[in-house]
Amino acid sequence: MQKEFAMVVCENEMKFDALQPRQNSFDFSRGDRLLEFAQRNGMQMRGHTLIWHNQNPSWLTNGNWTRDSLLAVMKNHITTVMTHYKGKIVEWDVANECIDDSGNGLRSSIWRNVIGQDYLDYAFKFAREADPDALLFYNDYNIEDLGPKSNATFNMIKSMKERGIPIDGVGFQCHFINGMSPQYLESIDKNIKRYAEIGVIVSFTEIDIRISQSENQSTAFQVQASNYKDLMKICLANPNCNTFVMWGFTDKYTWVPGTFPGYGNPLIYDSNYNPKPAYNALKEALMGN
Ligand code: XIL
Repeated sequence: MQKEFAMVVCENEMKFDALQPRQNSFDFSRGDRLLEFAQRNGMQMRGHTLIWHNQNPSWLTNGNWTRDSLLAVMKNHITTVMTHYKGKIVEWDVANECIDDSGNGLRSSIWRNVIGQDYLDYAFKFAREADPDALLFYNDYNIEDLGPKSNATFNMIKSMKERGIPIDGVGFQCHFINGMSPQYLESIDKNIKRYAEIGVIVSFTEIDIRISQSENQSTAFQVQASNYKDLMKICLANPNCNTFVMWGFTDKYTWVPGTFPGYGNPLIYDSNYNPKPAYNALKEALMGN
């Protein structure tokens, strides 16, 4: 794998509950192991994720906070984690999945409910102070093509830029369903281009393309290969898209069947670690074919 990939991201090891299981008691051991693996192999590292509504420790979710005391918790977490990894992580997901699924403002979370509508502004300011060299991202799903949630996300990021909030990029998670149409792919391309116009970079941060188990898998693998290839071509054709990260590499260990029952095989190596058609399709796209 070291030969094939240039970037590592922790699937769970840098989430809030993993890094700060008890208040002000940090555990970097698992994150550090993955960072060491990356460094040993000349790979870059993405950080995922500082502020989210999921995978938070119970002391945080059950705490009795005021706006000020929760802001202090946020600042302490962001500052401590980003200082620990300072200069070693090129892209940080400062905030994850904060927009409501219908695009109707910020989703309900401890951060929004206790701190208020401006909590993201604070998160990004704390992050920039902690490691000025890291690129700071807002990361979410179902914001890749044009639509209500993606418009809400774009408008939020545009407003942050206009108000001088330090944000560099948007992460498109890219948890897709196999068989993406040309129109859908075109819409992703348009979305990337509107971010370029406001000086925001786009990273593909958690790509997987899941296949229904009821389909003929070898036929579906060909469709999946063409979807992967088109996605890579879109990224390569847009100068503000430089990061193409998959949410794992082998179908053996993917979160997909656990979260989307009836679906599987979303990655570019099969369960026996053999490269799938999607692997070759990506290689072709990277070679310009
Ligand atoms: C998932 C992990 O893959 C699972 O192992 C874990 O049980 C739940 O979280 N969006 C994200 C990721 O930003 O952090 C999620 O990762 C997948 C969806």
